[in-house]
Amino acid sequence: MSTNLEQQARALIRTDNFIDGQWVGAASGQRFAVTDPATGKLIAEVSDSGRVDARAAADAAAVALPAWRATLPGVRAAILRRWHALIMEQSDALAALISLEQGKPLAEAHGEVAYGASYVAWFADEATRIYGDIIPQQHSRKRMTAIKEPIGVVAAITPWNFPLAMIARKIAPALAAGCTVVAKPAEDTPLTAIALVMLAHQAGVPNGVLNLISASRQSTVEAVGEWLDDSRVRKITFTGSTPVGKYLARESANSLKKASLELGGNAPFIVFEDADLDAAVKGLLAAKFRNGGQTCVSPNRVYVQRSVYERFSKELGAKVAELRVGPASDPASQIGPMINVRAVEKISRHVEDAVANGALVLTGAKCLPDLGPHYYAPTVLTNATSEMLLCNEETFGPVVPLFAFDTEQEAIQAANDTPFGLASYFYSQDVRRIDRVSRALETGIVGINEGALASEAAPFGGVKDSGYGREGSKYGLDDYLSIKYMCQGELD
Ligand code: SIN
Repeated sequence: MSTNLEQQARALIRTDNFIDGQWVGAASGQRFAVTDPATGKLIAEVSDSGRVDARAAADAAAVALPAWRATLPGVRAAILRRWHALIMEQSDALAALISLEQGKPLAEAHGEVAYGASYVAWFADEATRIYGDIIPQQHSRKRMTAIKEPIGVVAAITPWNFPLAMIARKIAPALAAGCTVVAKPAEDTPLTAIALVMLAHQAGVPNGVLNLISASRQSTVEAVGEWLDDSRVRKITFTGSTPVGKYLARESANSLKKASLELGGNAPFIVFEDADLDAAVKGLLAAKFRNGGQTCVSPNRVYVQRSVYERFSKELGAKVAELRVGPASDPASQIGPMINVRAVEKISRHVEDAVANGALVLTGAKCLPDLGPHYYAPTVLTNATSEMLLCNEETFGPVVPLFAFDTEQEAIQAANDTPFGLASYFYSQDVRRIDRVSRALETGIVGINEGALASEAAPFGGVKDSGYGREGSKYGLDDYLSIKYMCQGELD
């Protein structure tokens, strides 16, 4: 990364909480360190918030709610459009900031800025399309209508793997719907989220409508606990792990908050013998190695029909061995560092377990300490089996395990044999099989001869232990709205 670009990124850094339109430190005065995953070096120290700060944020959001929900949809849309324009104006600096705190190569970080901004533009338009219904008349003197209203104060809790896109796709629909927001970004990557909120303020989001606090791993339970206990917070939206999602669902049950939970994936990727194998290799590379495998929709289990297994593994292994690993600051890097030491430990544990149980290493399978403590080589393993850890848990790293199968039925059964159900992928050129398999896969998202699924116009979300609720698309607004039925009587 050039010095100039790093300076632009640093110019966007704010380290305080943003509550009621003001920058304020945590009430305790405590701060925690945000570090560069490529080098371990300190980038900034941000507020370590607890209950008092979370309550102040919720107070501001509750006070701001009546005026914001009464704002004309066109006014909300105009503010969102200005926010979108400011994000795009700052695209270079935001991308550099994402790379700095998350480690994503710069080209990918640019992609994330455009991706996150696309949700803001999308929901700016959707703000003006919140229709209700006049229900066809059932009684002679009654008129029945249904309207959609903002659900209220929304708590948004976001992950580190897409520090900009995940918070944008929660805040934008909430604001479009007329909700106010309290947000807490992941402790590893709060700086991009804070910068995004600053730009929203510059775009004209009124004081109190959007509030953000940062908290360390240790303080998060307390800070988020405050929102879970607060009955004024009517909705919780979370992207992250399944255990945390289940905890949030349980703990918010007392005040019956609406929840959107986008949780773990363990995605299957099936290659049938009638597939275009080159396209399948290309699609797998795109889906698997985006953000170094650190995505919820990353293929975690790759099932290849036995008749094409060898050819496919060879082609894939050769391409994966060519991937360039390095810091985001090097424009040639395709895979950056993993987010932290815990992530590298999990990847190593999965690979070691697989090898101990009979997997063969085609490429990779090692840490890269010369680059830094958070780097792991892109890896392809053959002879993977269902007993291995990497079949049953998300690895969240650059590891492709290849499983062989014989029949379509066997592949579908193996693909669905998991508690998770976010995304699945398959490659085939047989139209009947495409229809059968896409209906049989138990996931919220299916990629058919396609590895790049993300779009602001599409409903993103899972089934089973991958959660519920949808983000993006025309459906994404419903999660922030409640339906009011009105029955007017005594009509002539
Ligand atoms: C995620 O990893 O949670 C989101 C990925 C995406 O939006 O494609």
